[in-house]
Amino acid sequence: MRHFPVFLNLRGRRVVVSGAGACAVAKLRLLLKTEAALAVYGADADPLVRQWAGQGRLTLTERAILQGDADGAALVYGANEDAAEDARAVAIGKAAGALTNIVDNLDDSEFITPTIVDRDPVTVAIGTEGAAPVLARRIKADLEERLPAALGQLTRIGQAFRPRAEALPMGRKRRNFWSRFYFDRGPEALTQGEDAARLALEDLLSEELAARPEVGHVWLVGTGPGDPELLTLKARRLLHEADVVIHDRLVPQPILELARREAAVIEVGKIPYGKSWKQEDINDLLVAHGRTSQVVRLKSGDPGIFGRLDEEMDALDRANVAFDIVPGVTSASAAAASIKVSLTKRGRNGSLRILTGHDVKGFAEHDWRDLAKPGAVAAIYMGVRASAFLRGRLMIHGAAEDTPITAIENASRPDQRVFASTLIDLPDTLEAAAPQGPVMLFLGLTPRAAEIAAREPEFQLSEAL
Ligand SMILES: C[S@@+](CC[C@H](N)C(=O)[O-])C[C@H]1O[C@@H](n2cnc3c(N)ncnc32)[C@H](O)[C@@H]1O
Repeated sequence: MRHFPVFLNLRGRRVVVSGAGACAVAKLRLLLKTEAALAVYGADADPLVRQWAGQGRLTLTERAILQGDADGAALVYGANEDAAEDARAVAIGKAAGALTNIVDNLDDSEFITPTIVDRDPVTVAIGTEGAAPVLARRIKADLEERLPAALGQLTRIGQAFRPRAEALPMGRKRRNFWSRFYFDRGPEALTQGEDAARLALEDLLSEELAARPEVGHVWLVGTGPGDPELLTLKARRLLHEADVVIHDRLVPQPILELARREAAVIEVGKIPYGKSWKQEDINDLLVAHGRTSQVVRLKSGDPGIFGRLDEEMDALDRANVAFDIVPGVTSASAAAASIKVSLTKRGRNGSLRILTGHDVKGFAEHDWRDLAKPGAVAAIYMGVRASAFLRGRLMIHGAAEDTPITAIENASRPDQRVFASTLIDLPDTLEAAAPQGPVMLFLGLTPRAAEIAAREPEFQLSEAL
């Protein structure tokens, strides 16, 4: 981010615009929304600028800007549509200690003016660092459509009520009060007029004050395999409402960013074969926060699949802390989708095994005889380090050397990689790939494109994809 967005208090501050033609008019339309003292310098002023000056909304001096004109200014704009004149204007501005901008000249500007959606006092500023003005305009149009015109009015009514709302304790209760006003009762009441909206605030305050104190709750939430779009709507909402977010290492940043800014976000990562949080400490943390706060415990994929869910549920039960589970897309589903295969298929496999490569005792034992049968399909989690062990066990029990195995690293993420291999080659394939991210192994599955190419060699691969 080259430009950091801030909102500048311009009440009573001088803002100087050099130029009084069409380009200045566009900038002045925006600046007139502020409470700044606007001073415009430029010959041949546009009639609109003269009109604004006549109305006392700005001062107009019909000559080019001179040294001293920008003294005391917070901002100086060069809006002459003349490179030399704009450069002279910003030099005067800089000498006076103001921040300077040349309209439509990103490189020579110290700040840029964003595209604005105005529902004063709610202001949405949209910036693309000058990269895509069309995109900014499109986002503005979308927001203009989405944000009711009365939003500003509602916000001003709410703003005046803020001291009264302090009767509610900080945190959830107060948040509840405001979200009920802005998203539920307020807009409806405002259709009956401002007094009705004020009455709605009074009613809501009495209701919240009379309500019983809230107790904590823990939500054990699956985040899916990493792509934020695979998050459920419920997970997204809970994240947005949580007071405390406790998450695994595999939960990516874009998902964590959906939490409120005020929420406490705690990572309790377990690094395979590395330094990790102990499960008992995670349980204690969940219980401690869960007694009083709305806690979202994020687990990658689905929390019920190799997520140590039972330990956490048992701890919460023992401590009498209420909890609920929100399922997520497990990584096997995402990995299968990424290679365009189904996990079960008529005539191939009527059952699917979900296995772990290792458990608390080390490499995990399974029903190898059954897994070694032709057509068997298994999704193997945490299988990379166990790959040579898996190969040995399966081959001892009769699996063919050329049984297909596909490894998918970082399924659903931008850095996803796919390796089609066979049972005999699996450890070498994985060693050469040296995956750094989580890997799903599919016993008995081949990526669709490779399978079609093997079955119908004349079929173009691109058509198969
Ligand atoms: C502790 S388990 C958690 C599984 C998770 N609860 C789920 O439903 O996907 C971690 C293992 O899940 C698999 N995994 C998780 N995310 C993955 C991803 N994006 N791509 C491939 N495998 C993934 C890997 O096998 C990893 O070692």
